[in-house]
Amino acid sequence: MILFFDGRNRTISDDAPNLVEAARELGVGIPAPCYRSREKTGCCGVCHVLVNGKAAYACCTRPREGMVVEVTSPAVRRERNLRARHYRDTGTAYAPCGCDSGCDCSPSGSGCC
Ligand code: FES
Repeated sequence: MILFFDGRNRTISDDAPNLVEAARELGVGIPAPCYRSREKTGCCGVCHVLVNGKAAYACCTRPREGMVVEVTSPAVRRERNLRARHYRDTGTAYAPCGCDSGCDCSPSGSGCC
């Protein structure tokens, strides 16, 4: 599968489950604390990226052919750092994710995606 990843066409495996794993294949690390914890996924927002120009969580986004993904631009890094700071300061994966999918990102919830 070919993605347009940080301004370059890059090939990833067809079975990458999400953009965190797709980036890893390309040697790019996306911080993803709640995904890595395996307790709850899609709540902290630290894995913020842009997909086709719109904000997305890398851990919740399945790669698709031709997708335009922005991971390392200054604006994306700045947003990710703000969320990481919140995560670090509160010591919890809970942060209102703001999505409207009916998810449960409460402290006792199962997550967003
Ligand atoms: S790692 Fe993706 S939202 Fe927390």
